Amino acid sequence: MTKKATVITYGCQMNVNESAKIKKILENLGYELTDNIEETDIAFLNTCTVREGAATQIYGKLGEIKRVREQRGTKIVVTGCFAQEQGQELIKKFNYIDIVMGNQNIGRIPEAIEDIENRSAKHVVLTDYEDELPPRIDADFESKKTASIAITYGCNNFCTYCIVPYVRGRERSVPMAELVEEARELVKKGYKEIILLGQNVNSYGKGLSEEETFANLLQNICDIEGDFIIRFVSPHPRDFTDDVIDVIARNPKIARSLHLPLQSGSTRVLKLMNRGYSKEQYIALAEKIKERIPGVSLTADIIVGFPQETEEDFIDTLDVVEKVGFETSFMFMYSIRKGTKAAVMEGQIDDEVKKDRLHRLMSLQNSISKKLSMDYEGKIERVLVEGPSKKNKDMLSSRTSTNKIVLFKGDKSLEGQFVNVKINECKTWTLYGELMAD
Ligand code: 5AD
Ligand code: SF4
Repeated sequence: MTKKATVITYGCQMNVNESAKIKKILENLGYELTDNIEETDIAFLNTCTVREGAATQIYGKLGEIKRVREQRGTKIVVTGCFAQEQGQELIKKFNYIDIVMGNQNIGRIPEAIEDIENRSAKHVVLTDYEDELPPRIDADFESKKTASIAITYGCNNFCTYCIVPYVRGRERSVPMAELVEEARELVKKGYKEIILLGQNVNSYGKGLSEEETFANLLQNICDIEGDFIIRFVSPHPRDFTDDVIDVIARNPKIARSLHLPLQSGSTRVLKLMNRGYSKEQYIALAEKIKERIPGVSLTADIIVGFPQETEEDFIDTLDVVEKVGFETSFMFMYSIRKGTKAAVMEGQIDDEVKKDRLHRLMSLQNSISKKLSMDYEGKIERVLVEGPSKKNKDMLSSRTSTNKIVLFKGDKSLEGQFVNVKINECKTWTLYGELMAD
């Protein structure tokens, strides 16, 4: 009987990308992939550790899989950032875990499984990593229309709140020629949306030749023939150079949606965070981007309750949110990550204060999102069709270049195609429209 494998993914797009590679490796080993953990022979948890909540989620899932393991001997593999961070500790806490493996070791999955199944190893822990590029691994993407490519690995920024540089190591860039070739292959295979990934995409190319810059990479991918859209996450406001803005402005293939992590609107807190820009510099950058790329929508990550954040600092954050007008933002309460500089800073903020600030920020953001959504009314938008809507099977779900969800009535055969839709109704997070003839 064919053995079955399940891969459960937490965290960011980088983890989604790595899970797609894990799936391909498992398929090559003869496993059949399933989403149903009740029938699986080996379960992979690809984990995240960026914020406190991530661990709790993983512990819950581990408990669930343990029950299946007791019934059918399912092997359990924990990989990703939480695995990298915890290493051996995870086995000490949960001795039913078979394999703990960092992100950089996924190429060694076949030998790790072999060790557990045929060489009677009790546990395998692989969390060592080298500051070099991981081997290129084919990926099996869940979506037939969206694929992603990691352009850099690791991070050198050391924002004081962030654990990522400690778990993903130093920043390394993949040579441009390889990336362009990979993009070309994906377009040839029929993918319509290519997402470029890195912890700080616009510092791409450090250590490579002078021509290998993020702007040139974007331009070279745009030059690939075919109808497709390019997105990237995440740029760092400090490194957002004019040449990148110009390439985006020139190329309609690049999405009119930019994620520009703010983190805080207070220059004082930004300094404590080691972000490398001030409130005014951030606002100026956002304004420049909006001016040079008409119709662009901006989104951000924002943290409230960073150590020593005063009410005044928080009001600076609200002020930036108001002035820039993010289409949406991802808002978090600061949580301590052991080993980071901020973890040992004086002036940690009470949970109650953090919660209060988060609610106030969310309510401001919601009202802005709602207002910006109304601007779409009556417009004709070119959208990429993703497939039937999960909530309403009669409707197709699609996305605009600005990353807004549009639902409309249409035939399933449109899946994976670009079509024009007229927007008739605007809710905060979802637009409703009708298909236009070409
Ligand atoms: N606490 C809260 N939020 C954090 N982030 C990263 N580290 C922390 C932390 N310790 C947020 C940042 C980042 C996003 C991926 O997660 O906003 O951009
Ligand atoms: Fe989570 Fe950061 Fe790792 Fe992505 S890189 S999975 S956000 S810890």
